[in-house]
Amino acid sequence: MHYPWWYVPYLTAPMLIALVAVIHMLVSHYAVGGGLFLAMETGYAYKKKDRDYLAYLRRHARFFVLLTVVFGAITGVGIWWTIGLASPLATEVLIRTFVFGWATEWVFFVVEIISAFIFLYAWGRLPEKTHVVIGWIYGAAAWISLVLITGITAFMLNPGDWPENRSFWIAFFNPQFVPQVVARTGGSLLLASLYVYLHASIVLKDLKLRELISRRSMRPALLGAILITFGGAGWYVMLPPSAMAVLPSAAVLNIFMGLIVGMTLVVFLGLYFGPYRHPNWLSPGFAGMLLVFGFGAVSTGEFIREAVRKPYVVYNVVLANQILPEEIPWLQGVGFLRGGTWTRAHVAAAYPQVLGKGDIMPARLLALPRADRLALGRVLFQYHCNDCHAEQSGYSAAAPLVRGRSPEALADMILHFRRTHFYMPPWSGTPEEAQLLGEYLAEIAPPNPTGMLLNGPRKEAK
Ligand code: HEC
Repeated sequence: MHYPWWYVPYLTAPMLIALVAVIHMLVSHYAVGGGLFLAMETGYAYKKKDRDYLAYLRRHARFFVLLTVVFGAITGVGIWWTIGLASPLATEVLIRTFVFGWATEWVFFVVEIISAFIFLYAWGRLPEKTHVVIGWIYGAAAWISLVLITGITAFMLNPGDWPENRSFWIAFFNPQFVPQVVARTGGSLLLASLYVYLHASIVLKDLKLRELISRRSMRPALLGAILITFGGAGWYVMLPPSAMAVLPSAAVLNIFMGLIVGMTLVVFLGLYFGPYRHPNWLSPGFAGMLLVFGFGAVSTGEFIREAVRKPYVVYNVVLANQILPEEIPWLQGVGFLRGGTWTRAHVAAAYPQVLGKGDIMPARLLALPRADRLALGRVLFQYHCNDCHAEQSGYSAAAPLVRGRSPEALADMILHFRRTHFYMPPWSGTPEEAQLLGEYLAEIAPPNPTGMLLNGPRKEAK
């Protein structure tokens, strides 16, 4: 607990990561699949001496390089920026564990950019064979980047034996590695085809060429769909126990699972009846619809993949609220406020009367005036709960969740998180601090709208 807290109103800081990451992922998967598609298809068009197809591929390459290099790189840096601020401890663990993985990834990223630019800007000036080889170098480098990054993100969901044996290779080849590489490779192929459909349907008037593109990109799309299905099944089988338990316990995840199946079905049927059976259907509206449903299914998948990690950020290693599980007993002893560098400095500066021999004395916290107790309750909330709950309103806001409850009932609930709420980090402070947090939550909670007080007569509903 030696990092300061980053407060993002309404959204919560981790949801900001989710937002940036999902946008990044929709483009970065295309950066992989689209690269493989371009390499494959320029080779095919050269062999068939199909000038029209080559001219189209060149146009597509321009769109592709602009979107993936500029947009992909900016959102990629955006992820680094947000994770460093929102989840500093988890970021620290990842950097310490994977520094060589990341260095290697950056090397491949540079190879990607250079080969993408050569592929596009030297078009027509290189011998055909060399041009296609550059295309494949790009595609291979992009896919290896995907594999390297996936090793790291998959580690966060299931680090396997790593906590016992802290080697790079154990971390990298974690139980989620193969399923997620398979699913992401499939996602890249499928999304790339959907991007190609949309781009071709907008810029191409020539019906014969559109049909050719429909047919050519149908196979990678189908292969992608199959890989996603197998990868998704592997993801489920390799989930650690509490992640498996989170799935049926949250209504929003039930709905999202339903949505994924529904949206994926729409994409499958769309691919079958559209590009496969009726290649001439390829209109901007139809292609746009397929891409929107593809985006929907993939984004929902990412949300679920992330959401089931609760209560961890890095499973078994870092809790969602930036503490290590092994710190909990210590924090329960000395107190949450005293255990954190920044909370401790804040309390010492603002409330010197709670210090005894230079340290925060838990019992003295309750002797503070009410306004100060509430202010400290808010500090506790921000550090301990705000990773997953906004305050008054916003993402999974705490206030509406605790309507009508008394401070005592809330303190009691918080103290027993470990037994009753497995998806939230166990309470990591003293009973006095739980009392402060309970008081604060009761204070911000709106009245119970049904008028039935759940616990004690505190606030009357109007
Ligand atoms: C790892 C994320 C996470 C953290 C951290 C977290 N919660 Fe939760 N909490 C959840 C989830 C998920 C739910 C289920 C409701 C939902 O889906 O929004 C929930 C539900 C609740 C509920 C309603 C359920 C009930 O049994 O009353 C309360 C109250 C609550 N949290 C309070 C807190 C408080 C107080 C803290 C800080 C001490 C906290 N939470 C920290 C994830 C978290």
